Amino acid sequence: MHNEFILVKKSGPLTGQVLVSGAKNAALPIMASLILTSGVSVLKNVPHLTDIESMVSLLEELGAKVEANYAMGTLTVDTTLIHSWHIPEYMMKKTRASIVILGPLLARFKQADVAFPGGDAIGARPIDYHLKNFKKMGAQITQMEDLISLKAEKLFSQRFVLDYPSVGATQNILMAAVLVQGVSCIVNAAIEPEVMDLIGILQKMGAQISLEYPATIKVVGVKKLHAVEYSIMTDRLEAGALLIAAAITGGDITLPNACAQDMELFLMKLEEMGHEIIVDPQGGIRLKSSKNPVNVSFKTAPYPGIATDLQPLIMVAQVVSNGKSEMIETVFENRFLHVPYLNLMGARVEVLGSHKAVIIGVKKLQGATVIATDIRASCALVLAGLVADGVTRVYGVSHWWRGYESMDQKLRDLGAEIEFIKL
Ligand code: UD1
Repeated sequence: MHNEFILVKKSGPLTGQVLVSGAKNAALPIMASLILTSGVSVLKNVPHLTDIESMVSLLEELGAKVEANYAMGTLTVDTTLIHSWHIPEYMMKKTRASIVILGPLLARFKQADVAFPGGDAIGARPIDYHLKNFKKMGAQITQMEDLISLKAEKLFSQRFVLDYPSVGATQNILMAAVLVQGVSCIVNAAIEPEVMDLIGILQKMGAQISLEYPATIKVVGVKKLHAVEYSIMTDRLEAGALLIAAAITGGDITLPNACAQDMELFLMKLEEMGHEIIVDPQGGIRLKSSKNPVNVSFKTAPYPGIATDLQPLIMVAQVVSNGKSEMIETVFENRFLHVPYLNLMGARVEVLGSHKAVIIGVKKLQGATVIATDIRASCALVLAGLVADGVTRVYGVSHWWRGYESMDQKLRDLGAEIEFIKL
């Protein structure tokens, strides 16, 4: 809806404590992994987001019965009657994560008919690593314009060496491999916490998976996996967003269920900026902001590097800190779409080529009407609005709903002035 926007006013220091929701990027592949089982599974700590609803529709399209209780954060999924390996194009386009349905379909039916996935326009986002490894596994692949068909007589265990530790390719190959006889290895695998969460549920289903040096996921194929109950990890990207919101507003917040281990380098960088980070050994992170944050340069990288999904938000902190810093984006090649809008608000960010931005800290930002181009940009612009004089209107609200559960409420609970306006 184009007549919806998020209205953000300059807010005082954010203070207090809020709980972080379940992680979207863990929940989506975990939902797809249920295709590998037959029976009733229960997922807990599932965030209520439009991307999750899109994945529910995908599972239902295949024949699963899904009962969603978003108030409780649970999805009950009966995969007994899954009978189809075909996903219509319009469904695939709703979220990027729809691509991770391919591996489980290949494992269950030895075939899959899908379209290229949709999702954020943050780069070309090819799926060649997924497809070439499915081919290596024994699948024949037919591509017709936007449609992809996979078919295999039999799947073979292999040593898969990834060109790059792609999160989606690692998850897809892993799910395709767990039921394949023999030993499969994914070398140069992504080891993001969300990949570990997927490994967690697969192991609970009965899969035999171990981690080996160097960044290798080893799978010993099993004959069958069983339905499970599983709780999704908390969202490190939401936790990061809330910590930055506190940092830039001069606040002091606690996230009692955030996992510091999932974001160690990011927390260290916040400390370098001058903020105090207190990690509770029992779990939870507190940030006490510095009144005078200093400039720190960042570089995004696969985990345990700084998450690319935090880049637009970190940049807001750089924009309002003292002096000059750099942001090097190494994961995606089109991820500075938020910059023109930050500059419209008075930021001084210069994009140099496709991977580098130079930021000169400014004392003040000015509220403006801006448009979110992707999930993380939507949050970055909202955060910028919290420290900008006057009023900021963030359009492109659908992106926000795809990625952040009750985030506006959480920010309000911490003292932010933010509301949804529907004309
Ligand atoms: C996932 C996350 C996304 C995050 C990203 C990187 C979900 C739903 N999405 O996306 O939020 O920003 O990891 O941490 O979990 N690449 C190829 N060919 C491929 C696959 C990837 O060239 O076949 C490239 C991509 O263009 C990109 C890089 O590899 O430059 C990383 O992509 P990848 O890790 O696969 O990201 P996603 O799984 O799409």
